[in-house]
Amino acid sequence: MSLLLFLQVFLQVLLLLVSSSEAYKPVIIVHGLFDGPDDFITLTDFIQETHPGTNVTTLDMYDYWKSLMPLWTQVEGFRSLLEAKLNQSEEGAHLICYSQGGVICRALLSVIPNHNIHTFIALSSPLAGQFGVTEYLRRLFPETICEDFYKICYLSWFQQMSVCQYWNDPHYRDLYLEKDDFLPLINGETQHKDLPEWKKNFLQIKKMVLIGGPDDGVITPWQSSLFGFFNEKREVVEMKNQEFYTSDAFGLKTLDSRGDISVCVQSGVPHLHWHINITVFNNCIKDWLI
Ligand SMILES: *[C@@H]1O[C@H](CO)[C@@H](O)[C@H](O)[C@H]1NC(C)=O
Ligand SMILES: *[C@@H]1O[C@H](CO)[C@@H](O)[C@H](O)[C@H]1NC(C)=O
Ligand SMILES: *[C@@H]1O[C@H](CO)[C@@H](O)[C@H](O)[C@H]1NC(C)=O
Repeated sequence: MSLLLFLQVFLQVLLLLVSSSEAYKPVIIVHGLFDGPDDFITLTDFIQETHPGTNVTTLDMYDYWKSLMPLWTQVEGFRSLLEAKLNQSEEGAHLICYSQGGVICRALLSVIPNHNIHTFIALSSPLAGQFGVTEYLRRLFPETICEDFYKICYLSWFQQMSVCQYWNDPHYRDLYLEKDDFLPLINGETQHKDLPEWKKNFLQIKKMVLIGGPDDGVITPWQSSLFGFFNEKREVVEMKNQEFYTSDAFGLKTLDSRGDISVCVQSGVPHLHWHINITVFNNCIKDWLI
């Protein structure tokens, strides 16, 4: 009997040692438009409560109004911070990118060679573009209506402003492809010499988690958070029927056939709540942070 007890205690101690020495990978957060690290304290707490000891960092750069800076400039800045962190982490890291941060992360994962990001979580990001005037854009252009934004956004001066670099007017596709120097390049909608390299780099992730929902109110169409977008009749075409998917322009189809895309749609979540809603965290994020 006492031997049995001894074995039981021994096993429990062993289990405890094994579980406490198994560290969670660091989590790196890239913020969105008009926000910064302070807005991710709640999410950091969620992560540390469920995954004790996790090193969580929100990259502190291009915060608040500076998030309007040109996206390639931001990508360059975030890249140096991200690479510095990744270089210190042999086991790699997970990336959670919120809203505009999602398109920045798409670019980062494309341009950084041999990165060791495991899971890329895009939290309500305009991954296939934005075509809807929301409070954000009204702050900048109070009088302009959605249908007229192409006149502004595709001017080279306004391509120096982040929000215009993912403005995707389905009625002026030629202008989008010709004038936008960010999203069509990242999504392989225009051909360029870096595309094969970017695709290879992007495909180094182990998993991509796409999170969005119909009550978002900002991302338009909301399916853009899942790589869906409007056609010229303004009907939403889902990811699998998008040209960039069928042609595997940047690796999306490969990733999907590997079984490495997870989609998490949640209703009842307004745009500004995705990163502070515990149900969203439990349903869509928690289990991937291992
Ligand atoms: C991280 O490591 C890579 C590869 O060794 C190197 O090219 C890069 O400059 C490093 N970046 C930083 C910010 O330390
Ligand atoms: C998180 O990791 C960085 C290295 O990337 C390290 O400097 C920092 O001390 C760590 N923070 C905690 C709380 O462990
Ligand atoms: C939180 O998310 C759940 C779905 O995951 C939703 O039903 C609920 O309305 C959300 N709450 C808030 C305050 O956004």
